[in-house]
Amino acid sequence: MVLERVSTGVPKLDRILGGGFIRGKTYLITGETGVGKTILSLQFLLEGLRNGERVAYVSLDERVQGVLDGAMTLGWDLWSYYRMGLLYPFEIRIFSEDLRKYGKSSKAYIDTIIKMTNGGQVSRIVLDPISAMAFGALEEFAVREYIREIILFLEEKIGATTVLTCDIPSGSNRLSRFGYEEFLSSGVIVVGLRNVGGRLVRTLMVRKMRWSPADMTVYTFEIMHKRGVVIGPPLTSLESGQPVSGQEERFEQEERFPDEFDVSSP
Ligand SMILES: Nc1ncnc2c1ncn2[C@@H]1O[C@H](COP(=O)(O)OP(=O)(O)OP(=O)(O)O)[C@@H](O)[C@H]1O
Ligand SMILES: [Mg+2]
Repeated sequence: MVLERVSTGVPKLDRILGGGFIRGKTYLITGETGVGKTILSLQFLLEGLRNGERVAYVSLDERVQGVLDGAMTLGWDLWSYYRMGLLYPFEIRIFSEDLRKYGKSSKAYIDTIIKMTNGGQVSRIVLDPISAMAFGALEEFAVREYIREIILFLEEKIGATTVLTCDIPSGSNRLSRFGYEEFLSSGVIVVGLRNVGGRLVRTLMVRKMRWSPADMTVYTFEIMHKRGVVIGPPLTSLESGQPVSGQEERFEQEERFPDEFDVSSP
């Protein structure tokens, strides 16, 4: 059986991943604060929305209104998809008391996700950030089991392609907050910032991709109005001393500019 692929919303990332995400699997977007994890995850949802899919955005730390308003600064009118009933944005707050109360059972959260998504009728889900789900947990083992159960439930009960974001402490070499989220997901995309000649450059690399001949090059990227994440040349071409100016032209040009994002908000 051929594994079906789902576009990430970033054409060049699809190629880097060997055709996109595998449908129904769970992927981790990890990186330090402010590197673009939320924007990349929203772009993945927008790709589905543009195709008329129903999708869910689950915020675990920010107010969901703030995220939808923030997306407007990129020219992405998520509110219109919300009004069309295609986007289910909601918040789940996790308190350490709850985690102790539920123990390692993640069922309460899964039930909430199912209830909030019209019985799990969604093809894409983002949990942003998954690390917030496990804050306050006393036992590392419980956190691992807990996140594992959430991933299994999402894959088996809902069958959606899922993106989890995960923040890692600044300056650490870890791939995730707790150190095992990466083992539980089918692929890991690491986003970051690198100092090149006194200028911070955004970087993206695929650290792991199950069942795919992924390209492991460290790429640069920019966040652009409407286009969102646009992948540019490999980091090495900047570090090798080539002038930084002029690189913009080498950012791929074939990205689509969907008109529906021009829908003006009320
Ligand atoms: N409208 C915009 N146009 C261009 N770049 C933007 C725009 N809005 C935000 N950015 C850039 O995106 C970055 C934040 O992206 P995002 O919120 O996705 O990061 P994050 O990794 O989710 O951060 P956190 O860990 O705080 O949740 C900002 O630091 C800013 O540089
Ligand atoms: Mg974020």
